[in-house]
Amino acid sequence: MAASSTSPSAADVELRDVVKRFGDVPAVDHVDLVVPSGEFLALLGPSGCGKTTTLRIIAGFEQPTSGEVLVAGQSMRGVPPHKREVNTVFQHYALFPHMRVLDNVAYGLKQRGVAKAERQRQAAEALAMVRMDGFERRRPAEMSGGQQQRVALARALVMRPRVLLLDEPLGALDLKLRREMQVELKGIQDDVGITFVIVTHDQEEAMALADRIAVMHRGRIEQLASPTAVYDAPASAFVATFVGDLNVLRGTVLEGGAHPLVDVGAGLHLRPGRVVEPAAAGQQATVGLRPEHVTARAGHTPEGVEAAVATVMVVGHELQLVARLPGGGQLTARQPRDVDPLLESVAPGERVRLSWAPAAPMLLGPAGPGVSSSSGVPAAAGASTSE
Ligand SMILES: Nc1ncnc2c1ncn2[C@@H]1O[C@H](COP(=O)(O)OP(=O)(O)OP(=O)(O)O)[C@@H](O)[C@H]1O
Ligand SMILES: [Mg+2]
Repeated sequence: MAASSTSPSAADVELRDVVKRFGDVPAVDHVDLVVPSGEFLALLGPSGCGKTTTLRIIAGFEQPTSGEVLVAGQSMRGVPPHKREVNTVFQHYALFPHMRVLDNVAYGLKQRGVAKAERQRQAAEALAMVRMDGFERRRPAEMSGGQQQRVALARALVMRPRVLLLDEPLGALDLKLRREMQVELKGIQDDVGITFVIVTHDQEEAMALADRIAVMHRGRIEQLASPTAVYDAPASAFVATFVGDLNVLRGTVLEGGAHPLVDVGAGLHLRPGRVVEPAAAGQQATVGLRPEHVTARAGHTPEGVEAAVATVMVVGHELQLVARLPGGGQLTARQPRDVDPLLESVAPGERVRLSWAPAAPMLLGPAGPGVSSSSGVPAAAGASTSE
């Protein structure tokens, strides 16, 4: 690829081999990242993986130990935060408590020397954008968390940055409000067209919002791809287990190669359709299978393998069933309730049959000592792993 970092079509943000050490801990470990103009990018990963540090390096609050940061094709070496064409929205809104909403939003423009009438006009416009017009005279303490976060967003947007950095901007909100604000955030980004880089440890949030997701683990980007690619074609066992729920079965590899065969016990042989990380014949390995790829049926269907029900949960229109395989592992199936309404009344210990498309399993690679033979699916849907 030709170097395009100084051409007019330059990426809005570029990190070149960025390393950040705190003592001897590498918080950011050789990260390369190119964020094109107008993209909505999510940095996703467990606690401590280096997301905030990466964002702070882009914003200029933190200096990289080595490597280079470019914004709009310009090196940011020696450029202080307020001289960069980026603005940051933090998890805790950090509004000035004594100032009314309009003055909070207009504050940055005042610092820039914009005349009063003009900055008030622009602040009112930004408030309308986040649907907070009518709140101009309120103080932060007189608003809900979601409203305060919208004002914080308006305060960043009014500066018309090239790039907006958002660090867990919805982290302080309850789940319902969070989902609503996600829709709004996506809409605002579509409207204003500026580049958004959002940090989140919530994989559903990243999937819902982002054009591309950078999945971080231990200071490195393990995969940078579209949400569907990250989900359907994970680049590593870590990505496969972190993004989306995953059943994990342990077994013995009978045949290695591109079309491996794995014995997961009691005569059940799987031929994974995808090799995330390879394993050789004779090795202990883990196989992943998404809950929504497993179909459970009650009764005497000949299809699939027999399993003993552990738990059945109805979550809205979905049914989530956990069942033990004869070989010792367990699988969670997640499916619409109408696939088999009889399942809603099965009791623990009863037999069901589980089936999946033959190619749905993914070979995750050699089993580590920490990998259990049981299901890797958290009890509650949407929960995510952490380090
Ligand atoms: N100022 C600091 N001094 C020393 N270590 C730090 C500092 N800031 C971050 N770290 C360490 O760097 C690593 C990455 O931290 P960072 O805040 O970037 O993680 P994160 O991915 O944002 O996590 P979280 O989801 O918990 O916010 C962690 O091990 C953290 O303890
Ligand atoms: Mg953080």
